Amino acid sequence: MSGEQDKPAIRIRKMAPEDLDQVIEIDQLSFSQPWPANSFQFEMYNNPVARLWVAEKIPETTPARIIGMMVIWMVIDEAHIGTIAVHPDYRRLGIGSMLFRHGLTHLQAEGAKLVYLEVRRTNFCAQELYRRLGFCMFDERKGYYQDNGEDALIFILDHLQTRNFS
Ligand SMILES: CC(C)(COP(=O)(O)OP(=O)(O)OC[C@H]1O[C@@H](n2cnc3c(N)ncnc32)[C@H](O)[C@@H]1OP(=O)(O)O)[C@@H](O)C(=O)NCCC(=O)NCCS
Repeated sequence: MSGEQDKPAIRIRKMAPEDLDQVIEIDQLSFSQPWPANSFQFEMYNNPVARLWVAEKIPETTPARIIGMMVIWMVIDEAHIGTIAVHPDYRRLGIGSMLFRHGLTHLQAEGAKLVYLEVRRTNFCAQELYRRLGFCMFDERKGYYQDNGEDALIFILDHLQTRNFS
């Protein structure tokens, strides 16, 4: 938590090609095992099941100031959170929650019944966020993360069509 930022006005919108440099920077600042830099480009252009969003600070500027990003894969009626991160300077301001609510509302409209994700066993901040959104721990994958052999916990949110994210 930065504690140094006032809560910014933001909007959530689809990720655009010109956002990629800032998205990659957020990814690299946020994860010990970031995605290869060309992964976001792949997801944007070549993966038809990928849904990509960013949180953009307003008033809008050129170039846009991107402070959060999320990638979700939608396969038939199941959604899988690929990644979500908020720039370290803007955490604990509700932006992760806003990204989630926006993404999950869109997935509902696409017919998703269930959403799931993997989270590191020690990533208590993210787990707390997921619990507050209604996710439950469902399973675990031993030694899932290659950098340190940490376990992944699988969190799911079912009955998506009956949930209210407003
Ligand atoms: C996880 C992450 C996306 C949360 O984004 P965020 O914008 O800070 O989250 P929010 O401000 O919406 O937090 C919502 C709630 O989650 C919980 N939470 C978030 N960060 C927390 C922290 N550092 N400590 C304890 N609880 C935390 C709190 O319950 C919080 O509500 P509160 O602030 O009213 O107490 C952000 O911390 C991040 O980018 N982390 C690094 C990347 C990452 O771990 N992604 C998840 C991979 S599975």
